Parts: sequence; structure tokens; C-alpha cells
Amino acid sequence: MSPIPEKATGEIHIRGGVRLQGKVKVQGSKNAALPILAATILAEGESYLKDCPKISDVYRMLRLLQSLGGQVRWEGDGVCVSTGSITTQDMPADVITGMRSSLCLLGALLARCGSIVMEYPGGCVIGQRPIDLHLGALEQMGVHFHEEEGRICGEAPEGIHGAEIHLALPSVGATENILLAAVTARGVTRIEGAAREPEVEALCRSLNACGARIEGAGSSCLEIRGVKRLHGAVYRIPADRIVAGTYLFAALGAGGCVLLEQAPCGHMQGVIRMAERMGALCQVTEEGLYVQSAAKPASAGVIRTGVYPGFPTDMQSVALAVSTIAPGETRIEEHIFENRFRVTEPLRRMGADIRQLDSHCLYVKGTDRLHGQRVEACELRGGAALVVAGLMAEGETVVTGCEYIERGYENICKDLRELGVRIHSV
Ligand code: UD1
Repeated sequence: MSPIPEKATGEIHIRGGVRLQGKVKVQGSKNAALPILAATILAEGESYLKDCPKISDVYRMLRLLQSLGGQVRWEGDGVCVSTGSITTQDMPADVITGMRSSLCLLGALLARCGSIVMEYPGGCVIGQRPIDLHLGALEQMGVHFHEEEGRICGEAPEGIHGAEIHLALPSVGATENILLAAVTARGVTRIEGAAREPEVEALCRSLNACGARIEGAGSSCLEIRGVKRLHGAVYRIPADRIVAGTYLFAALGAGGCVLLEQAPCGHMQGVIRMAERMGALCQVTEEGLYVQSAAKPASAGVIRTGVYPGFPTDMQSVALAVSTIAPGETRIEEHIFENRFRVTEPLRRMGADIRQLDSHCLYVKGTDRLHGQRVEACELRGGAALVVAGLMAEGETVVTGCEYIERGYENICKDLRELGVRIHSV
């Protein structure tokens, strides 16, 4: 069987107005899995990644690894990857340009092959997403870049060496690329101003499990001592804090009582605090996160996104959807990506009262209720927000553009059905 299924994408139909009840197991994290999969390029022998999420972005990354000559197979809830000999000749351009996180192959392939020619991972509807920090840091480590026919060409004629890197912004992707290039580089690399997101910490831990020597995992100062080689390892992908947060806010918006099994509560403090401010009762237990919520959420006042441990930008659209029915006013401030407000238009069509003050700031006036509509998802988290809006709306909501949602959610319909929602995809 092919490890990479072709998924039919369609529409999601939701009947709103049902309180959520029951439990659901939280899937493995997309943003942790993707760079950890890229890291298998550096390891000799086989790596087994438990709880790897079965989402389209992971399938795309597996396709890229196969195109490089890697062997890939699913075993239970995990995926086995081995990358014996590597060839960069046949990387499918459409997969690279279609997926931002193909960018983390840059550091891994430069470390493994010493040179790389690849397409730009492309822009994205949530913002420009430049890669200057990635390229600047890798240049400090001995890589020379130039552009040829719109492609990035990188070469390290004398191999990759350690460097003192000060990141002007704590970019998640740039930190990951530096880590991937540094683990087998000559000498020591120090990153000041590194991203502290849990997914970066997971990458550090998985690399260390393969024999890397990284200190400071989870902090903004990382020290990496280059080693000669890495070996394969077994590593469990942590549960997805954004998927858990989506279902937490779904329960907050629709009301109900749910258990989010294996929710990574230790990494969700900012999200849990916000949900509590909006009226949810949250209890962290060994099983996961219990959430209880009355029918109507309260306004948070201000929701401001920030780097970890702040309120995640990936949760902003879902929090916005819930805020549309919170009595009073809510101000939403987006500080990471400049174009994450595209979901406001379909939410307005569902009856939300949202005014955009400037490119970073929304003003939401709570409305009594949303009503079902046919709406289109145009990016991953905005799509999930429309599903959550559908749970809170009167009547039927149809969300199209579901291929975006499948990039990050294994099966949002099945998960929500387990919580009693009348939802199906066609
Ligand atoms: C990752 C996550 C994404 C999340 C984001 C912030 C993955 C696959 N994606 O994206 O879901 O929303 O972190 O938590 O893990 N920037 C520059 N120059 C650069 C790099 C980034 O200016 O070279 C800017 C970006 O435009 C953005 C900010 O830095 O404004 C943060 O971006 P970054 O942390 O790099 O996000 P990603 O790694 O792309």
C-alpha cells in the first residue's frame, strides 16, 4: 500500500446548535512532525516516529523524502523513514512550492549533501513570510546562496561550520533550519534569540535522541556541538497544541463538557488562560484537559497574539470566531503574520460584526447568534475557525475549500462527531 494516500477533498456540512459532549484523542502535532521528518535525512538507519499525524502536509513531506530516495512506510500510528542514499535531482517542484515547511529541507539537505538547488517554498495567504533570517544564518555557517531561474542555489564549498547567530526575530522556521544545519557541522553553533515554541524543543529532543548534542532545548539560547553522524531513533511526536486548542475553543463557543485526551496542557497555558477568561472551566488531569462551558462565551477584552508562551497566532482565527458571539466588544491584535484576517469576510456573511481597524487589529462586536451559510476556507486555521463558527451557528453551515483544513487536521469531522456534533464531509 502506498504510504501516501490520495485524499478526496470536498465540503464539510455542519448542523449548529449542539452542545459538545464526550471525549476525543488529540492527534500528533503537525508543526513538530514536519521538521522532525526533515531531520531523518541526517540520520543513518531507520527512524520511527510514533503518533505521526496522518495529514496532507505530512503526506507531502513523505513524498519529498521519497523523491530524495528515502524509504517510507506506516506502521500502526507511526511512520518509519530511512534515507540511505540521497539524490536531490527529482524533488517535485509543485510539492515544494505548495508547502511552506518544505523550507526545513534546506538546512537538512545542505548538511547532508553540501549543496542544494530548490524552488522557493512560495508565499502564503497569511502573509509574505520572507526567508531572510534562514538564509542569513546559513550564510554565517559557510553557505553561499544565489538565485538561478527563480530557484535557491546554496553551496558550502568548505563544509558547514558552527557560528554565533543572533536572530533578530525568534523565527520558528529559521531556528529549525539552523539546528538542522548545525547538528553535524564542524564546531559549535550558538543561537541567541531562538524561537522557544514547543515544536522547536521537540526537534531538539528528537535530534538528541539521534545522537546530536544540543543544549538549552526550550530556551531562547541554544548551543549545538556538531557531531560526525546521527543515527536513527524512535521518537514520539507530541500532541498538537493547536488542534487541542481548536477543540477547547469549539467547546467554549458551542457550550458543553469535553475531555481532550492527551492534550499537551503544559504547552497550552496561554490558550487555557484565554479560554478561562472567556468563561470556560478547565481542569488539567493525567488524561488530558477537561473543559466545561456554559452556552455563551464571555468577551476576552483583548486577544493579542505573540510568540510562545504568548497566545499563538495559529489560534487567533478560532478565537476570533468564538468572540463573534461574546457579548460586548473584543479587540483582536495579530502581531506575527500581517494577513491573517481573511476569515473575517466569511464570518461577516454568517452574521458576525467585525471591523478591521488596521492591518494588525480587528474590532469585534458580539452578536446574538451566527447563521449557517456556505463559506469558503482559504487557509488552514481560518478553515478550522469556520467549522467552529458552524458549530455555533443556527441551521446548516457548509465549509468548502476543505483541502486547507486537511493540511493540519487528521479528521476534524470524525473528532467533532465523537463530541456529538452533527457534521459530515461530502
Ligand atoms: C511556524 C509555524 C506556523 C506558526 C509560526 C509562528 C510551522 C510549519 N509553521 O511558521 O504554524 O504560525 O511558526 O508560530 O511550524 N520572518 C521573517 N524572516 C524570516 C522568517 C520569518 O521576517 O526569515 C517573520 C515572518 O514573516 C513572521 C515571523 O517572522 O512575521 C514569524 O515567522 P516564523 O516564526 O518563521 O514562522 P514559520 O516558521 O513560517
